[in-house]
Amino acid sequence: MTHLTPAEASEQVRSRVLGRNLGVFIQTFGCQQNEADSEKMLGIATSLGYLPVDTPDRADLILVNTCAIREHAEKRALSIIGGYKHCKEANPSLIIGVCGCMPAQPHRAEEIKHHLPYVSFTLAPGQPEKLPELILSAMNRQKRRFVLDSETPAICEDLPIARRERHRAWVSIMYGCNNFCSYCIVPYVRGRERSRASEAIIREVSALVAEGVKEITLLGQNVNSYRSDCDFATLLERLAALDGDFLLRFMTSHPKDVPDRLIATMAAHPTKIAPHFHLPLQSGSDRILSLMNRRYTTAHYLSIVQKLRAAIPHVALSTDIIVGFPGETEEDFAGTLSILEQVQFDLVYSFIYSPRKGTSAAELTDRVPAEVSRARMEALLAAQAEHARARALPYQDQTLRVLVDGPAKAGEGMLSGRSAHNKLVHFRGDEALIGSYVSVRIDRADPFALHGTLTETKK
Ligand code: 5AD
Ligand code: SF4
Repeated sequence: MTHLTPAEASEQVRSRVLGRNLGVFIQTFGCQQNEADSEKMLGIATSLGYLPVDTPDRADLILVNTCAIREHAEKRALSIIGGYKHCKEANPSLIIGVCGCMPAQPHRAEEIKHHLPYVSFTLAPGQPEKLPELILSAMNRQKRRFVLDSETPAICEDLPIARRERHRAWVSIMYGCNNFCSYCIVPYVRGRERSRASEAIIREVSALVAEGVKEITLLGQNVNSYRSDCDFATLLERLAALDGDFLLRFMTSHPKDVPDRLIATMAAHPTKIAPHFHLPLQSGSDRILSLMNRRYTTAHYLSIVQKLRAAIPHVALSTDIIVGFPGETEEDFAGTLSILEQVQFDLVYSFIYSPRKGTSAAELTDRVPAEVSRARMEALLAAQAEHARARALPYQDQTLRVLVDGPAKAGEGMLSGRSAHNKLVHFRGDEALIGSYVSVRIDRADPFALHGTLTETKK
């Protein structure tokens, strides 16, 4: 095809979409970074004239933003995409694009090419600005396109973003990862680290605060390797210095590089930076951490926890754990349980190891049998439920400031929201409160949610 600039491609697509009432449906799997990427893709699609629709059968453009972190996530996406065959049969001009981490793997791109002929294009993460050109090719019934190269694309600023929520927002501060943890596919599909300029981030956050957004989560695979004209702690300091009633969160931090200055910055801005730290441990065995290429020891991890708790006594801690990494013995797993016992995390996200093609751990042969991994996962969950209960109990009878997210799943008239510590809080209240701060007195503290009564509402 002749090469068009993104602006020219956009113009051509827009001229064919506008006034035709064409719908776009985006399905998102995986992490917050994917959520943020989808908001950009929806922003681009709507700027092209597509109207957001709630169901795939009403769409003329379906984008599936996939995850490749574990096999289960890929299988789910593939089965959903399989179901879209019927949509294509019902609407032959439907354009289906598969985006994100899954099709950035050459073997998955091949699979889609050969087995899912109704998929018009694939697009690796980090290049949403290519969407108009891909949509245009599909409209022109040109060759199906498979944009693989996750080769560290340049950052494209000022793309339109259609944010899903008005009170919380994701702000990506960097893309990619250089760490190559041995189990992880992310560095292969998201390319090398690149950071946005601090002024661009400050401009985006200032605009969000001015629009009344209450919570802003800064995203990066490892925010501590943010590097532009300043480092992450300085960026956070500058953002915390902005005027307004808002709270900053960030994720994820790699334990190998949490500087003291970051902890001091959090402690110095208790009303602007959430007292919550997500610090993936992955394993409590130094031997397994080394096989995982994590480049820290459990002793180092514990020293960060100690510093965090010394500086911010009520800080909430969450982590990620992988069970059943190749070669993990009962003793290694006991090490993980022991660290969980010592730290007493507020929240643990635990995963059974899933071999990812192309990663170095996938070559390891001493796989842990599935039933052993499952038993370890159950033991971990049982232990963690007790720690979470212990961590939740002190909130009982306290009054918390809660940002209201929406209706709670449990029960008519119930709302749910998050405290600054990122604790899930359920209470009875009017839906008009969604998006604002309220005060909730906690009546009951369960391991995974606090239940309370609204005491007052404030904007
Ligand atoms: N198998 C299981 N869990 C994984 N994670 C990353 N890669 C894998 C894998 N191959 C987990 C890690 C990471 C979280 C986002 O997903 O715990 O921190
Ligand atoms: Fe994956 Fe490790 Fe990079 Fe996180 S830091 S994205 S676990 S390689």
